[in-house]
Amino acid sequence: MDYETPQFYRVMQYAARADRDVVEMVSGSPDWDPPEAVRDGLSAYAEADADEFQYAPSRGLRGLRAAIAARHGVDEARVVVTNGAGEANHLAMTGGLERFDGGEILLPDPVYPYYAGRANFLGAETTFVPVESDGRLDPAAVRAAASSETAVVVANSPNNPTGAVYGEDAMAAFVAVAEENDALLVSDEVYSQFDYSGRFSSALAVESPNVVATNAFSKSMAVTGFRVGYAVFPPTDGPTGDLVERATTRHMLTNVSGSRPAQYAVQQAMERTDTAYYEAARERLQQRIGRFCEALDEAGATYTRPDGGFYVLARFPDFPGSFENAERLVDEAGVAGMPGAAFGEARADDLRFSLTTPRVETAAERLVEYFG
Ligand SMILES: Cc1ncc(COP(=O)(O)O)c(C=O)c1O
Repeated sequence: MDYETPQFYRVMQYAARADRDVVEMVSGSPDWDPPEAVRDGLSAYAEADADEFQYAPSRGLRGLRAAIAARHGVDEARVVVTNGAGEANHLAMTGGLERFDGGEILLPDPVYPYYAGRANFLGAETTFVPVESDGRLDPAAVRAAASSETAVVVANSPNNPTGAVYGEDAMAAFVAVAEENDALLVSDEVYSQFDYSGRFSSALAVESPNVVATNAFSKSMAVTGFRVGYAVFPPTDGPTGDLVERATTRHMLTNVSGSRPAQYAVQQAMERTDTAYYEAARERLQQRIGRFCEALDEAGATYTRPDGGFYVLARFPDFPGSFENAERLVDEAGVAGMPGAAFGEARADDLRFSLTTPRVETAAERLVEYFG
């Protein structure tokens, strides 16, 4: 699999060029509104003084970092605001490779392809650990794959693409594997607001110098275009306390700073958005998951109902998840999903459908008609 060329656009563009109406279930961009306070924050920003149109502090707006630190119960000095979870993952993985011995990154299979692409261009060796049949990564399998060569272990919960959510025990076990092998656990928690199981546990619940947690407001506040994310690095007074400084320097050299108005609006929304906003998003998605899974049953597909996130991985009889079949599905059924082959080998027979569309009902009907 060529992870260095992002494949999402390939299927999206194919779907956009199709001669027929297509329900686009490829991209992970929410189709719902951001919290009202995001819009208010942006509007208010238009009237701000000229100096607030200049560079933000490189690590992020003070108030935003304080709010993030309070959310996680950590010292503000550990927080770097980044351009989305993407940059946070980049900084964390780079730091892990530099700081720890070994040149290997352990990744789950199926994998969020950008981890693998990033590992490739950072010149790291990649070792993939296949998930279990229910889509979960078994900590014992991660332990068996890890060695002194391992510098970084990546975990993602709730998971893209499997929908798995790891509880406290599994997260503690991933952290332990990192510690035992003198490596860094990078815990990507960008879907943390989309846990339907009640099981989600942040890696930060485990006190460890071997953990970086990454996150963003991209999905939780439906603002993927804002590019506001963050990483929480290990305590600055511990053995890996320099990781935050290294990341800050890299972030500064690459970006100078993140977008100030976007950070301001997100900060406002953190302060003013109540839990009902997040509950409504979860409820909407759970209804979509329910309807989509009903259709998958009718269509004779094999799948695991996601415990979190907003993707469903499904396998249809005699229809492997190749790029060719994804394109066939666009042309013949009018539904665009992402080929499982884009996520590695373990789920190459599956297709991944993103439920970030108001047209789940139409997609469901079309899939039942096509495969049923
Ligand atoms: C697992 C995972 N991590 C990171 C990202 C990127 O997040 P951001 O848009 O905040 O960079 C995505 C986006 O789809 C994702 O699925």
